[in-house]
Amino acid sequence: MKILITAGPTREYLDPVRFMSNRSTGKMGFAIAEAAVARGHEVTLISGPVILGTPPEVSRIDIETARDMLAAVQKELPEHDALVMCAAVSDFRPKITTCHKLKKSTMPPVIELIANPDILHCIQPEKGNRIFVGFAAETDNIFIEAERKLKEKGLDLIVANDITQVDAGFEVDTNRVTLIHPEQEPEKLPLMSKAALGEKLIEFIESKNKANCTPSDAGSV
Ligand code: PMT
Repeated sequence: MKILITAGPTREYLDPVRFMSNRSTGKMGFAIAEAAVARGHEVTLISGPVILGTPPEVSRIDIETARDMLAAVQKELPEHDALVMCAAVSDFRPKITTCHKLKKSTMPPVIELIANPDILHCIQPEKGNRIFVGFAAETDNIFIEAERKLKEKGLDLIVANDITQVDAGFEVDTNRVTLIHPEQEPEKLPLMSKAALGEKLIEFIESKNKANCTPSDAGSV
């Protein structure tokens, strides 16, 4: 299969030196990319600014802003069978970005924000038979929030991380997640390495792809 994976944070600039971002290191998304390559898939990895090296055999596209990530996903998606949106995309950006560094004396005390496009929402019309996996990093009402995102974003699976746990979510090498599928009971997984979770998600994509490719009347005469 050809699998498109996003990873890392986005940066939303206020001026050439200041930006809004988040704590994503890219570890989770890069682990999924490595797991996919190990299973023989072709992988394109769209990454925000991170310090990780590109895993062998992965084709990498570096971006900075949410709008750059949207453009890269829209360009690449037609060539791919599955998308894993692991990136922590900024929901907002400063309304005004200046080309010159703002002076301390003229810095506005309040920064006006505007909404960024929701990438999964924008590409929903192109889904077709493609498999879409999303992530949800939550602190409260984890299942309710993750299920809402699963439905609103039209996903085949959402991976809910409880980021109140020190060994889950941002920056660490492990994750503790619940897999939420449409119309199924949530599947709570134990603490595991991000590498092991990457393998599990690739197994899900492979089995979903197999089911999509198998006609429902297979075997009948
Ligand atoms: O990079 P690490 O340090 O290893 O950390 C991993 C992680 C915590 C970043 C990762 O496991 C994770 O949870 N990523 C999603 C973070 C998040 O908060 O997602 P969200 O709840 O804002 O968005 C839900 C889904 O919609 C995600 O699949 C996201 O990629 C997508 N999205 C979000 C905003 C937006 N404008 N467009 C989107 O498509």
